[in-house]
Amino acid sequence: MRTADAVIIFAILLLLVAVIILIQYVKRFRKDDAAIEAIYNASRRIPEMGGRTGFIKYVCELTKNITRADEFVYFKYDEKNKVLIPTYAESPYKDQIMDSSLKLSEGFTGKVAVSRKGGILNHANKSKVSKHIPNTPNEESSLLAIPMIFNGDLLGAILQVKLKGGLFKQKELKLSEIFVNMASEFFFTKDLLHNVRESVVQLIVSLVRNVEYKDPYTAGHSIRVGHFAEIISRGLDLDEKTVLTAKVGGFLHDIGKIAIEDKILKEKFILEDEDWKKVKEHPRIGAEIVGKFTFLDDIVPCILYHHKHYDGSGYPEDIHINGKEIPLCGRIIAVADALDAITTSRPGYPARSLQWAIMELNENKGLQFDPDIVKVVTENSIKIAKFVRKRFDIEDKKNYEEIAQIL
Ligand SMILES: [Fe+2]
Ligand SMILES: [Fe+2]
Repeated sequence: MRTADAVIIFAILLLLVAVIILIQYVKRFRKDDAAIEAIYNASRRIPEMGGRTGFIKYVCELTKNITRADEFVYFKYDEKNKVLIPTYAESPYKDQIMDSSLKLSEGFTGKVAVSRKGGILNHANKSKVSKHIPNTPNEESSLLAIPMIFNGDLLGAILQVKLKGGLFKQKELKLSEIFVNMASEFFFTKDLLHNVRESVVQLIVSLVRNVEYKDPYTAGHSIRVGHFAEIISRGLDLDEKTVLTAKVGGFLHDIGKIAIEDKILKEKFILEDEDWKKVKEHPRIGAEIVGKFTFLDDIVPCILYHHKHYDGSGYPEDIHINGKEIPLCGRIIAVADALDAITTSRPGYPARSLQWAIMELNENKGLQFDPDIVKVVTENSIKIAKFVRKRFDIEDKKNYEEIAQIL
């Protein structure tokens, strides 16, 4: 070989090596770039994440982008029973995985959860540490597991699996940890909000019960109005969310009476002007109580307008709207409320039959009541009859559970 040929071959080889190094560098750069992009996108999309499943799916998508893992499992930690329960899985063996809870220290994920430190177990199928899931093949696999910790509490764990000889790297563990930590914080906040919401719901339910205590003549009134409102809403063909809003609106419509003295509510004779003025405040007071909580926003109009008449009279007197301008939920509760008032006995008014009540509603349609809603009541009188004068024991908490469930 001539010297010139050798130089050319050497130069070509050198060029080839340089190209290979460059390709590797670009690949690495692209991978880092993808990770940065994923982190950036994640931080932007957090507020859009609805529930836990939506968020965990997103974390799965992100981490799998970085690690190219074949399988992903999210375990929720059950503190009471000290087990990790598979709650979400992306795997061809999903059914088998979802059936295998892990005790703490059991399998690689259980050990990671106890040590509270993420780790990698390459060639896991050859290790005694990992737990073989029944009814799955014992194939070549590597594991990457990260515990979900927030404020020192174990919330769960994330497991990723690579099949067919794929191996995990430390860098992939670190990047995955960023997302898992983010998920931990998200879940913790969700739990916290859930607990706060639960307390608010219990508070609201106890207010409704107290209103019923204040006015024993109308015991069960709020619950019956809730049921009437549901029947009317379904008769109007409203969507499920609106139906349930009207139902809860019925349960809560008189909540503002909590602020009115018992002696006024129990008065058997015609109220003094001053007392009547106070009674007329109850829709506004109720709307203010409920309006303090954003998740109850839809209920506010049901409460505020349940004494507003279709012709614009009624109260609140300073809100000048009439007809269909009055929010639908307010118009529904107005009819449901009147149905119960007419059919139950109260001071100075004997209980009337449902037929009587329907007749009165018809006489007042277009004046006090929305004619379309009165029509629906007339058409659904059989369903309504089931709840007319139905007793709901104030003491029995079961009667109020439905409110808590809907909320
Ligand atoms: Fe009322
Ligand atoms: Fe009422």
